[in-house]
Amino acid sequence: MPSKQVFTATDGATYTTSNGAPVAEPYAAQRIGTTGPLLLQDFHHIDLLAHFDRERIPERVVHAKGAGAHGYFELTHDLSDLTSCSLFTQKGTKVDTTVRFSTVGGESGSADTARDPRGFAIKLKTEEGNLDWVFNNTPVFFIRDPAKFPHFIHTQKRDPQTHLKDADMFWDYLSQNPESAHQIMILFSDRGTPDGYHNMHGYSGHTYKLVKADGSFVYTQIHLIADGGFKTLDNATAGKLAGDNPDYGIQAMFEAIDAGNFPSWTVYVQTMTPEQAESFRYNVLDLTKVWPHKDYPMRQVGKLVLNKNPQNYFNEIEQAAFSPSHQIPYFEPSADPVLQSRLFSYPDTHRHRLGANYQQLPTNAPKVPVSNFQRDGPMNFFNQGARPNYQSSITPLTYKNHQGAINGAVRDGHKRSLKHETWVGGAFWDLSEITELDFEQPRALYREVMTPVDRDHLISNLAGHLGGAKSAEVKARTLSYFASVDQELSDRLAKAIGAPTAKPLPVKPAAEAIRFRANVGASPNL
Ligand code: HEM
Repeated sequence: MPSKQVFTATDGATYTTSNGAPVAEPYAAQRIGTTGPLLLQDFHHIDLLAHFDRERIPERVVHAKGAGAHGYFELTHDLSDLTSCSLFTQKGTKVDTTVRFSTVGGESGSADTARDPRGFAIKLKTEEGNLDWVFNNTPVFFIRDPAKFPHFIHTQKRDPQTHLKDADMFWDYLSQNPESAHQIMILFSDRGTPDGYHNMHGYSGHTYKLVKADGSFVYTQIHLIADGGFKTLDNATAGKLAGDNPDYGIQAMFEAIDAGNFPSWTVYVQTMTPEQAESFRYNVLDLTKVWPHKDYPMRQVGKLVLNKNPQNYFNEIEQAAFSPSHQIPYFEPSADPVLQSRLFSYPDTHRHRLGANYQQLPTNAPKVPVSNFQRDGPMNFFNQGARPNYQSSITPLTYKNHQGAINGAVRDGHKRSLKHETWVGGAFWDLSEITELDFEQPRALYREVMTPVDRDHLISNLAGHLGGAKSAEVKARTLSYFASVDQELSDRLAKAIGAPTAKPLPVKPAAEAIRFRANVGASPNL
């Protein structure tokens, strides 16, 4: 077991009630006589029970099980040719960082080795406020229309009646929403069962924007490549560990950091100009696609290192609140609809899970002063002192303009060009229909990237799960879904689960899909 820190603050401290009063007998309730009823005056006892009754806060609705640590991000290569974002303009810039890894579907006591994507959430405490990168360990995702998210998640959780995970529900949803194929191919490879939380890569998945003060921008995708490589477990080992040590991932990372084997990642960006995006084969806002590295090379920018275990897990990790909408100037969201939806969802759930002042909790509080006109609310530890709670002409707050200069108390508005956004308006149509374009990347993954062993594992992992579905219709539709990726894959899977072979789903050919997109044209300026 890892060594645990012993705090001097607790060594020899005197036991007290929550109001600081010493208690002579902590293990006994006050009562009348030796066997009589208890006394209402016994604040120690009531304090004890009432606080205990409130120890649990809601667990995260997704990503409930996790592990976290602290460290730093250091900029090793500046990106000032691409962005005015202060984090990326000065080589050597180093910021404190908190990272939380997680599985997605299971409850907070579920196994670390479950087949699931892994969350990779990073809080970067910069000199211009907190930038959160709320990433996963896969470069793509299951959906590209956010309205599907709660439905999709429900099918991965427990059945309302049996309270069991349900293979029919799982494949019924996925086979009817085949834009998930790329992510499913990754999930059912051995990458779906990483060997611990700290031995895997992280990806933004979404397209973000790196913006310059003149309003120009490039689209970007961010990659964190584990310096120790992406280590995986085979299905049998992951299953055995789930029983033997459900906290395998937490323990492995805690012990690695404790022993001074600090996990680290090299951070890269891929970038694409708005002009390149116009002729990109896929929609730049499509979260189910990767950007080919040969066309959009990886450019190294920094290092992420985790070198400190939490001293109090609940305070530092459970109460951490990451959101893609916690951004800093010149690092911006793209119009990816799933990302746009997430910008709302995270702070909304934080206010429910942690309260309206969640940003004031020490683990979330920015390193820089927060100055605005928000006031009050429960558990407010920093209420901005005596400063007026409106823009007072006597002591006004100053504003930074969109070029980063202090403007006094004069607001400058946001005048940057949104030119390219007119084109992405067509994304609505683009992202709604399933076409042959959706199967190209999962097919290349199966045929060109996976080794024969990877393919064998994929098929046996899929068969193990799909074989548990009872509905012949769900099985047949799922086999068609995989036939659209690759006929041989589907046929081998059919054989493995003892079902008839299936034909691919009927979808629009790639050339027609691209012509259709070109004809959608520009929508009104957003
Ligand atoms: C956690 C919503 C898609 C990565 C969460 C939480 C919610 C949520 C409500 C719980 C947050 C909390 O309680 O602190 C959504 C919605 C999505 C979506 C509505 C799509 C419409 C994604 C995608 C990614 C992602 C595409 C990655 C690319 C994460 C991570 C966490 C998380 C890493 C855990 C954060 C932590 O460790 O505290 N999501 N999510 N999510 N989500 Fe999403």
